Amino acid sequence: MPSPQLSVVVPTYKERGNVAELVRRLDLALSGIAWEVIFVDDNSPDGTAALAKEIAATDSRVRCLRRVGRRGLAGACIEGMSASAAPFVAVIDGDLQHDEKVLPAMLAKLQGGAADLVAGTRYVEGGSAASFSQGRGAISRLATRLTHRLVGTNLSDPMSGFFMLRRDRFDEIAPRLSPVGFKILLDIAATGGGKLRIAEQPYNFGERFDGESKFNAQIGVEFLGLLLAKATGDLVDPRFIFFALVGTIGLVVHLVALRLSLWLLPADLPDLFRTAQFIATFIAMTSNFLLNNELTYKDRRLKGWAMARGFVLFCLIGSVGVLTNIDLASWLYIDHSRWLLAGAAGAIMSALWNYAMSTLFVWRAR
Ligand code: GDD
Ligand code: MN
Repeated sequence: MPSPQLSVVVPTYKERGNVAELVRRLDLALSGIAWEVIFVDDNSPDGTAALAKEIAATDSRVRCLRRVGRRGLAGACIEGMSASAAPFVAVIDGDLQHDEKVLPAMLAKLQGGAADLVAGTRYVEGGSAASFSQGRGAISRLATRLTHRLVGTNLSDPMSGFFMLRRDRFDEIAPRLSPVGFKILLDIAATGGGKLRIAEQPYNFGERFDGESKFNAQIGVEFLGLLLAKATGDLVDPRFIFFALVGTIGLVVHLVALRLSLWLLPADLPDLFRTAQFIATFIAMTSNFLLNNELTYKDRRLKGWAMARGFVLFCLIGSVGVLTNIDLASWLYIDHSRWLLAGAAGAIMSALWNYAMSTLFVWRAR
């Protein structure tokens, strides 16, 4: 059998009901082309990987990479493309919303040598996104406008997860791609920059065949993080957007706890404000720890004993910040009697310190 010209990478999470149908449709669409499909499954509980491997056992064009202990669409695409040895790689959703029938046209554009990347698009003549719900359609259009504004890209549909590119180009830029989030095409185009010649291929975005979408609010925030990173020339880590978000929530938690403590503690307590500020700081620190563990560092999430140890470390790091926080805030409070300003200034100080130190020590990269 000839070695594949085209690797079709399919990220999957809970797509068991779509795997066989996708292979069947790829077989129809790609007749005459030496192709393979690489399912990259994040250990879906519905047994998507097991089914893909069952098909692979009798069809050598089918491969499956089962990732354990990791989650994320972009990361799955990066690993799937990295596993390809073919000259061309495509990425297509596993739920049959992307039209596999345009794959040969995309391949022809690359083989002609006029482009390095062909991006599927719903937003030019010949393409459509009619199957989007009203809400999702609006989010997609808003994100597209925001992207055009913040990131210099000429993609008409930067949100599309459907594209094909030369593998040598992918290999060059792969080390600079972010495994976080949903928007792998935008990341590739922005990272590749002007050197990457881009063509587009219109397609009709269809209905999901089986199962449910994994899109959610967290993925939306991750996308903002990616935009921020690209808009600052990778100066700001995409993770930072979650720092900022958790920090803001922590600040609100802190101020609410401070206000409540000031009400609830006996008014004649000698060190009333200091004590209230201390309690508020502890509550905000706990909430920051839990939220950061869930969101900011979800790829390095601490569990069980490691989580308990992490929390102790987080508090130790925090307590250095707390000392300056309490002193700064008490000083501001005594001199100016503004509880809001004093509390906020102290909290911001310790938040900055906590973030820097926790990235270095609590959730350090393994
Ligand atoms: N391995 C892996 N890990 N795959 C994932 C994960 C994950 O954490 N999350 C989602 N996927 C897979 C799904 O199984 C599916 O094959 C594909 O990624 C797209 O996910 P959907 O859940 O179907 O997303 P969607 O239809 O809401 O979003 C699609 O449309 C957007 C258009 O605005 C995707 O194509 C997006 O990439 C696209 O931007
Ligand atoms: Mn989908």
